[in-house]
Amino acid sequence: MPSDTLTITDNRTGKTYEVPISDGTIRATDLRQIKVGADDFGLMPYDPGYMNTASCRSRITYIDGDQGILEYRGYPIDQLAEQSTFIEVAYLLLYGELPNRSQLEEWTNKITWHTILHENVKKFIDGFRYDAHPMSMFVSTVAALSAFYPEAKTITDKDNRHKQIRRLVAKAPTLAAFAYRHLLGRPYVYPDNDLSYTGNFLNMLFRRVAEPRYRPNPVLERALDILFILHADHEQNCSTSTMRMVGSSHADPYSALAAAASALYGPLHGGANEAVLTMLKEIGSKDRIPEFIKKVKAGEGRLMGFGHRVYKNYDPRAKIIKRTADQVFESVGKNPLIDIAVELERIALEDEYFVKRKLYPNVDFYSGIIYQAMGFPTEMFTVLFAIPRTIGWLAQWEELVNDNEQKIGRPRQIYLGARERDYVPMVRREG
Ligand code: CMC
Repeated sequence: MPSDTLTITDNRTGKTYEVPISDGTIRATDLRQIKVGADDFGLMPYDPGYMNTASCRSRITYIDGDQGILEYRGYPIDQLAEQSTFIEVAYLLLYGELPNRSQLEEWTNKITWHTILHENVKKFIDGFRYDAHPMSMFVSTVAALSAFYPEAKTITDKDNRHKQIRRLVAKAPTLAAFAYRHLLGRPYVYPDNDLSYTGNFLNMLFRRVAEPRYRPNPVLERALDILFILHADHEQNCSTSTMRMVGSSHADPYSALAAAASALYGPLHGGANEAVLTMLKEIGSKDRIPEFIKKVKAGEGRLMGFGHRVYKNYDPRAKIIKRTADQVFESVGKNPLIDIAVELERIALEDEYFVKRKLYPNVDFYSGIIYQAMGFPTEMFTVLFAIPRTIGWLAQWEELVNDNEQKIGRPRQIYLGARERDYVPMVRREG
């Protein structure tokens, strides 16, 4: 008779246990009853990198890595990229449903209201060296916002939480743009709330000092909006898990989000888009690709922008980005690195090393090429990932706060170090 349980026989003791299976998982704590003796702590799963551990129940983002499917709240990513806007997708991620016209208008107005930064944040950014990485500036200023909005600590109040969420979604582009202007040594440009979310962002980045009114290039404005939709959430990745981990201690959302953005900064995560550009520049020309691939296969570095923990098929976001690249190139001219990237992809996808390991282009493979064509320096690429991911992190944080099953994150370890040694005084440690 089939039943939703798992029977485990512990061959150390000969005892048999039955643990329930629900939603295709067993509870790790159900293994604790499996012991060899009364003072045994009990069996634990060992899972470095959380390769096979579900840490939460979520209703936000669905990924089928084998089939290359990505859905936000059930809506396929290609439909959202084609027909929606980032600001609408942000609402969808947070509230679970697409907004009607008046809900969207209210949401847009409320976000727009919060785009401005406290004047002292400018002083904070001014304090960075002229060559500070914009991601370092972004992470630190997001963390600093916690000091500007101390009421954010009251995470049990829903209205208060949502106000901080709107603030963060609104201020992320302003912080990013100010960090960029600092890098160039140009005066900061204040938000223009008559423009769209991405139109205003382009205004704050690129408006010239004497320019009376900035009019964004509609092709770039829409391309950036699509890129923002594609980057908005990606379930329990490294940065989102960091957001949830820090949030689980009931830290305020600015502190938790600064930690999440720090996780994103790493080259194996959101820093990969910057690393792809560096890699393509180093390769330099199509005829040097085979030599580069040989080095990767010999373990001398990775093909950046390839491979994914979850996708064992073409990343659906990479496909959409490749299409968007063509539209951007038509408007602002082709980035010559695209030819190297396309050839690199062709060679890699035919190579047994990559085929065997199911390594396909991920979201970062083509995004940097577009960003560069749009006029962004490579240092800004990860910041361009962090802006739209802000709503993903916050929607996940909101879900965590409302989940009664969640507790402070606190994994276990297998201790292999020394035990019970007597302290050795300094005089006896010489030689
Ligand atoms: N180039 C060459 N070999 C690779 C690559 C790559 N990009 N990615 C994985 N491999 C190999 C790896 O060496 C290993 O081979 P072997 O079995 O012989 O030891 C095998 O494939 C499995 O790799 P893994 O490191 O165990 O896989 P993972 O799931 O732990 O890592 C990853 C996933 C994304 C960190 C990895 O694929 C990687 O480093 N890719 C390059 C960096 C990158 O593009 N990151 C962006 C990820 S997408 C954006 C985001 O969500 O952050």
